[in-house]
Amino acid sequence: MNKVIVSLLLTLGITGMAHAAGDAKAGQAKAAVCGACHGPDGNSAAPNFPKLAGQGERYLLKQMNDIKAGNRTVLEMTGLLNNVSDQDMADIAAYFASQKGSVGAADPKVVARGEALFRGGKLEQGMPACTGCHAPDGSGNAAAGFPHLGGQHAQYVAKQLTDFREGNRTNDGDSMIMRGIAAKLSNKDIEAVSSYIQGLH
Ligand code: HEC
Ligand code: HEC
Repeated sequence: MNKVIVSLLLTLGITGMAHAAGDAKAGQAKAAVCGACHGPDGNSAAPNFPKLAGQGERYLLKQMNDIKAGNRTVLEMTGLLNNVSDQDMADIAAYFASQKGSVGAADPKVVARGEALFRGGKLEQGMPACTGCHAPDGSGNAAAGFPHLGGQHAQYVAKQLTDFREGNRTNDGDSMIMRGIAAKLSNKDIEAVSSYIQGLH
């Protein structure tokens, strides 16, 4: 009897682990529908579609769950995740996380202002540097769920910062980390730091 329970628990435990972790190989085929906008390998061509390649797995999965649940509005993806299971989402996240993200170029006219903001923040207004969470090279912190930013399309980044500032994106948690930061950024700041991020690697 005891042996049966132990082996049952072991089986359940192992099954549970298998479901929690994403399988990048299985995710490739499941991600085909996403490739139309995000690019087959997650490097999207259009600047309003975010690159997913090389993005942290945990962050990707959180965004998919937020979009599916309606906690983050993405009109282009309306209904798209309704019939995608938790396991499929985990596999897709693992697939895009395993791809290599491409890098763009920064506009030389605004790069100095963008770099100063990214690396130094705005101390006089109590705004921390972006590097503290998104890392000096923009690679983020995958384990903590802090997104990779380096090489992301400037147009997409600028829209996110504006959305956080205006309260149109609110899925940054109860501490409102990004809403608090974006509140301290002017339009010119957003343009400069987004351009800097596009060229960062
Ligand atoms: C018709 C185009 C389209 C398709 C198809 C699409 N997406 Fe998106 N997706 C978008 C747009 C546009 C955004 C960004 C919206 C915004 O500006 O906030 C987005 C955002 C995301 C984000 C958040 C990225 C980030 O950096 O925060 C994830 C994750 C994502 N999509 C995953 C997927 C997955 C997985 C699929 C396939 C099941 C998919 N998308 C299919 C258009 C699309
Ligand atoms: C204290 C930590 C912290 C700091 C400092 C910080 N961020 Fe963030 N940032 C986050 C977290 C966490 C998220 C993800 C929120 C979520 O889960 O949706 C995020 C999300 C973002 C996103 C959305 C990424 C995407 O793919 O949609 C952008 C853009 C961004 N941050 C830019 C910045 C910039 C620019 C700065 C500096 C001016 C900055 N962040 C400073 C923690 C931080």
